[in-house]
Amino acid sequence: MNLTLKVWRQQNAKAKGKVETYNVKDISPDSSFLEMMDILNEQLINNDIEPVAFDHDCREGICGMCSLYINGEAHGPDRKVTTCQLHMRMFKDGDTITIEPFRSAGFPVVKDLVVDRSAFDRIQQAGGYVSVNTSGNTQDANAIPIPKVDADKAFDAATCIGCGACVATCKNGSAMLFVSAKVSQFSLLPQGQVEKDRRVLNMVDQMDTEGFGNCTNTGACEVECPKGISLDNIARMNRDFLSASVLSKDK
Ligand code: SF4
Ligand code: FES
Repeated sequence: MNLTLKVWRQQNAKAKGKVETYNVKDISPDSSFLEMMDILNEQLINNDIEPVAFDHDCREGICGMCSLYINGEAHGPDRKVTTCQLHMRMFKDGDTITIEPFRSAGFPVVKDLVVDRSAFDRIQQAGGYVSVNTSGNTQDANAIPIPKVDADKAFDAATCIGCGACVATCKNGSAMLFVSAKVSQFSLLPQGQVEKDRRVLNMVDQMDTEGFGNCTNTGACEVECPKGISLDNIARMNRDFLSASVLSKDK
């Protein structure tokens, strides 16, 4: 396949960015989108042009690092796949492909296609954990009965890889799908009950502090999420937040 690529180039966080046009030839339809980007970068290096900076790590849909906005969609035109799992067979020979970074006030551009998603780390640090007794008298996890339906929902929420596609897709730049997945994966389980109220209050507070927008239930985040995280998690988090807010006022 021969392709025209329109790629966002930006030297650093403060520099003004612009779109540069590159052509790549003989791309296999079986290659991944990131392999195509590797070929572009080899070509640029051979021509003494600085390669395009982009994020990646596992290249198998697990780490959440890859974060490209491709032809106006987070992770490109396929559904329930990350950019690293996107294959070039989704495009046609002769296509022009526009490649931009995830854009949101909460994700400032670092360079080219790399954005700073450390806001997600700070939200996690605000409550995305459970405290456990590691004294040696800890109860075996398998001894705690959990209804199958709750375990399944918690597991589904826990599949969020923190990629940020939900934020990049949302017209409000809301991080509610991500935060609600991280809250739900614990609030559905007995192990998450001790810190349940504190967790949801602190994580939502940190989300607001980071400058993410509010959810207006457009549902675009769910459509573009590579892990199919459900909007049900947002409804659950809103209920948990309301009840925790009322309880905290009663104290
Ligand atoms: S909810 Fe989906 S889109 Fe958002 S960070 Fe998690 S995996 Fe990515
Ligand atoms: S590089 Fe890890 S999810 Fe894409």
